[in-house]
Amino acid sequence: MKPLLFEPGGETLLGRRVCDRLGVHAGQFEIRAFPDGECYIRIDEECAGREVVLFESLDHPDEKTLRLILLADTLRDLGAVRIGLVAPYLAYMRQDARFRAGEGITAHYYPRLLSAHFDWLVTVDPHLHRIHGLEDVYSIPASAVPAAAPIADWIAAHLAEPLLIGPDAESKQWVADVAARIGAPYLVLTKTRSGDRRVAVSIPDLQQHRRRTPVILDDIISTGHTLMATIEHLAASGTPAPVCVAVHGLFCADALGGLERAGVGSVVTTNSVAHASNQIDLTEVIATAVRAYLP
Ligand code: R5P
Repeated sequence: MKPLLFEPGGETLLGRRVCDRLGVHAGQFEIRAFPDGECYIRIDEECAGREVVLFESLDHPDEKTLRLILLADTLRDLGAVRIGLVAPYLAYMRQDARFRAGEGITAHYYPRLLSAHFDWLVTVDPHLHRIHGLEDVYSIPASAVPAAAPIADWIAAHLAEPLLIGPDAESKQWVADVAARIGAPYLVLTKTRSGDRRVAVSIPDLQQHRRRTPVILDDIISTGHTLMATIEHLAASGTPAPVCVAVHGLFCADALGGLERAGVGSVVTTNSVAHASNQIDLTEVIATAVRAYLP
């Protein structure tokens, strides 16, 4: 019997495309809240002996994770042989150290929770900084799929003379990869964060690149302040309005409005988290990684 794919948060465009590309069966189920807010789950499929894929991007993880775990446990209870998680955006990777006394290192605890309920994990460009690989925190087989190829294809198709700019040291991994694929120059800035919304980045040296279109590339847009600080430096230097490209657009609060007020030319994201800025499709890279886990 074909593997089953469930989207606990409801069907997404990316989830449906991945399901079609893999040729797996979109599982029928009911998830709703009881009047007291607890989760009710009923699976409308034969699960015994089946491979199962749960597909859900983990933005707003605190709302989604318990439901996901209860669904995985239900499927296992009904006889599923293996349950994998495809989380195009993987949460809780950024608090990867104790920056101030007494803080929890949630990038260590959350992976333990997911590892206890799933057999494998596929995600796209997780925030790997002080944690060097998913295997350092996940005890299940886990694949970090790079979005560099589809991002490079998008830039090559839409921008004539790009200059790639990474706003902080950890962005170098993505920026260098994309730049090499399209033969474009790149700069990497230094970032200092002193609060959730207080970010400073170093001033880019644009001497040789004034005519090029700046493309600020980062893994996540959360509050947008990292990109806003970078855009402000560029605005003062007379380059064309920058294009911001991110793998995961979370857009907390008024992030998009803030980027527009700072002078961004356009904002482009992959479809890891559904948003109006999605222009880069991850279907192929995700489906290829998931295939390796299915019989
Ligand atoms: C962290 O270092 C990430 O790579 C991003 O730069 C960061 O998450 C962006 O956050 P914000 O949009 O809140 O500045």
